[in-house]
Amino acid sequence: MDTAQRPADVRSAIVTGGAGGIGRVTCRRLAEAGYVVVVADLDGGRAADVAAALPAAPGGKHVGFGGDLTSSDVNRDLAETASRIAPIGLLVNGIGISPKRGGGKIDLEDVDDELWTSVLSVNLTAPFYASRAVAPLMPGDGTASIVMLESVTSRMGVGARLDEFPPYLPSTIAYGVSKGGLSNLRVSLVRELARRSIRVNGVAPGFVATAMMSAADAGPLVDQLPTRRYARPEEVADAIAYLASPQAAYVNGACIDVNGGWLPA
Ligand SMILES: NC(=O)c1ccc[n+]([C@@H]2O[C@H](COP(=O)([O-])OP(=O)(O)OC[C@H]3O[C@@H](n4cnc5c(N)ncnc54)[C@H](O)[C@@H]3O)[C@@H](O)[C@H]2O)c1
Repeated sequence: MDTAQRPADVRSAIVTGGAGGIGRVTCRRLAEAGYVVVVADLDGGRAADVAAALPAAPGGKHVGFGGDLTSSDVNRDLAETASRIAPIGLLVNGIGISPKRGGGKIDLEDVDDELWTSVLSVNLTAPFYASRAVAPLMPGDGTASIVMLESVTSRMGVGARLDEFPPYLPSTIAYGVSKGGLSNLRVSLVRELARRSIRVNGVAPGFVATAMMSAADAGPLVDQLPTRRYARPEEVADAIAYLASPQAAYVNGACIDVNGGWLPA
């Protein structure tokens, strides 16, 4: 569909990590809300498959975008791709990695330089690059927003062992630091992007049933949660869709916990 034919209120939505467990469910939820979705992921084949399986959008065709989003050039490319489809109404920074060893946490002394750099680069630098590239292409009429996929670890940190002092997370200190940085990126962008009327919010899950968590030993983890189960990806996607919606027009700088009561605010 060319620009001349496109209804005026059609918006594109970019979901980074869109082929992942939370990502692909979020893409579906946003397609149902009427966005034309750009599914962005390292795995271009899976991104294209997710895009092809989405319910049709009235304003255009969903697309898969393959690329390593730790590159600023790739993020610029992504932003231009989405804005050619329709004005960009939403960026979901959903990209993330959480390395584990033997199903659990990697201790401080085993977090080598390479692991530290890769986690910070995927979980924090890439969302910064994406936000910096996308925001200038968003309409400044108060309809556009950014949502960060943060984590319970943003506030809680990652440390110790399951048998020491709970709560326990099977991840690395690099993961907690990256997500803490992402939370600050959210509140800093609220200020930076106020002049463009772009809202910036976050969703902070605890444990969600995806590939990221399937490497962990679930039994003892679930016992820590007041709601004794992992979240379903749909429960995270619903919070993202709410934050992007007109019903959340006055919600700016907020982060919704979807952690089953694990870490009450
Ligand atoms: N699963 C959980 O329990 C949980 C909890 C809290 C927060 N989160 C956060 O939610 C987000 C999604 O998690 P998920 O469980 O769906 O993970 P997932 O591993 O299923 O999906 C992550 C996606 O990111 C993509 N990705 C990784 N590196 C990339 C790169 N360099 N360039 C482009 N794409 C890249 C992967 O290919 C993958 O498809 C992450 O930010 C994660 O940290 C997840």
